[in-house]
Amino acid sequence: MERKLSYLIVDDDRSIVKLLSEVLTLQPYTFQVFSAFSAEEALSTLEKETVDILIVDILLPGMSGIDLVREAFRKHSDLSAIMVSGYADIEKVRQALKLGVYDYIIKPINIEEFLHTIGRLVEHIHLLDEKKLYVQTLESKVKEATDNLAHLFYEILSSTIYILEARDVNTLRHSQDVTWYGELLGKELGLSDTELEKLRIGGILHDIGKVGIKDEILFKPSKLTPEEYTIVKQHPLIGKKILYPIGQFDKDILDIVYSHHEYWDGNGYPEGKRGEAIPKLARIIAIADAYSAMVAERVYKKAKTPAEALSELKRCAGTQFDPDLVPLFCSMIEKNLFSSKGDL
Ligand SMILES: [Fe+2]
Repeated sequence: MERKLSYLIVDDDRSIVKLLSEVLTLQPYTFQVFSAFSAEEALSTLEKETVDILIVDILLPGMSGIDLVREAFRKHSDLSAIMVSGYADIEKVRQALKLGVYDYIIKPINIEEFLHTIGRLVEHIHLLDEKKLYVQTLESKVKEATDNLAHLFYEILSSTIYILEARDVNTLRHSQDVTWYGELLGKELGLSDTELEKLRIGGILHDIGKVGIKDEILFKPSKLTPEEYTIVKQHPLIGKKILYPIGQFDKDILDIVYSHHEYWDGNGYPEGKRGEAIPKLARIIAIADAYSAMVAERVYKKAKTPAEALSELKRCAGTQFDPDLVPLFCSMIEKNLFSSKGDL
């Protein structure tokens, strides 16, 4: 439904203000009519009230009608204006039109002509409203479609992790554990819901690049040769390549996948980034990843106890891991280990 509009009539001639006010109040598309007898008074009304259309006499005492319109447009971008002028002020009217004033009427005011001009402006505003609504609807539909697509994409990728599970059940369990620990640390840090969601997705997908590593290397029960280790170290880059083509894929999630093996001191891979140049979410997942890997049993290694894993994290704080995050993570795990729940 078309909205009703509010007016502000500004003229130092009180009889004109009264006349226009009465005429406008009777119109079906009018919501409210305000009046002011000077530019200063008009500006203070604009601060307090919602006005759609300004009807301004060009000649006002003090600040001129043109200056009023300029100031009003600067402060209220949705405002429309109509100038009222005598024949002698046509040059000023031209200036006003340049400022974006919709139209003007000449004194003495012919009411029929006035209402016709106002009617055209009201129609114009309603058309702009419709256009705005259309753009908003379109934007929200595009956003919804994009969100659905991104969600579908996450789902597909998360299922890809099952491909890894088919090769080795430990991978899936590991990804879930990393997500769990990463999210706990994220909450401890007071991250926003959006960042926590990114941590969850990044945690599940962090090793997605391992789909590109051969089984003989990935699941080798004995120590890797330097050449094999070089191949394993490609998994962050492969992961990034898998995710990268999807333009709207979130950069923070991409960072987790790409940078979760960077070391605080710059000795990690793939880029050797150091310190805070490593994205924060990737630094969180790096700790969660290491802890989860240490406390898990593998064919080629025994599980460390939580206490052993925590002391290893502490030993590597400032070299491998973010020295500010490690104490937080450790105290969080210790607290949970000795709590009645003991759910870690
Ligand atoms: Fe990894």
